[in-house]
Amino acid sequence: MAQIIDGKAISLQIKDELKEKVASYKEQGIEITLAVVKVGNDPASAVYVRNKEKACEYIGINSKKIEMPEETTEEELLKLIDELNNDKAINGILVQLPLPKHIDENNILLAIDPIKDVDGFHPVNVGKMVIGEPSFLPCTPAGIIEMIKRSDIDIEGKECVVIGRSNIVGKPMSILMLRENATVTITHSRTKDLKAVCKRADIVVAAIGKAKFVTDEYIKEGATVIDVGMDRDENGKLCGDVDFDNVQLVAGAITPVPGGVGPMTVTMLLVNCLRSVELSK
Ligand code: GUN
Repeated sequence: MAQIIDGKAISLQIKDELKEKVASYKEQGIEITLAVVKVGNDPASAVYVRNKEKACEYIGINSKKIEMPEETTEEELLKLIDELNNDKAINGILVQLPLPKHIDENNILLAIDPIKDVDGFHPVNVGKMVIGEPSFLPCTPAGIIEMIKRSDIDIEGKECVVIGRSNIVGKPMSILMLRENATVTITHSRTKDLKAVCKRADIVVAAIGKAKFVTDEYIKEGATVIDVGMDRDENGKLCGDVDFDNVQLVAGAITPVPGGVGPMTVTMLLVNCLRSVELSK
């Protein structure tokens, strides 16, 4: 049976470490404030934003939630971002995605001052990540690296296969694995014989968005399996991209859904909020 990587427990451990750092910042008179912008009525976004606010509260940093209606124009949102960029009391800006269809997401992400880009989505931060300069790292992939390390699993020299090539997870995940000296393969919907490619891997990261897609046939005995999926099964129950019950019988270590990658993503956002103080020094 596989070791279950408990994202909730690891994330609590990190949050407690951050709480101490925040307290020492406060003693130096440094307050940290995250602006969280939500546009429209996406129900999943409402849950994510609430979790982010609660996490800020837990470690003692301020969150300023700005909710805008679905019909907000791109110009109105850009104006708000400009105000937040210029507000010295705001350390980090997070615009919850997805945005309503009439707003160009790329224009919005480009408008956020890279020094306040706690999501790590601005092209300047993406570029710095690729060449290994200090920057904000995107939360989900950074959280995955952290949870693997804190589970005493080596990444260096390992065969790592990432399934999915999104800008938020797949692509940055492959870069961060490379920075850890793994041998990395990115796979996607056009990959030929995905099963055979995955079966080579010591570490598989599944970020596809298809419920229970990855079965034991994809996994080498003893491999580490990281599940980024947030899907619904045939009964409407929350599950991941990995068929957990079946894969845990062959994997060496595996993350559950819920309680795996999800809590780490929120926690890495907090890490980035503290990093905003260090990067702006
Ligand atoms: N929507 C889904 N994941 C994310 C994330 O990591 N950051 C933001 N801003 N929106 C998201």
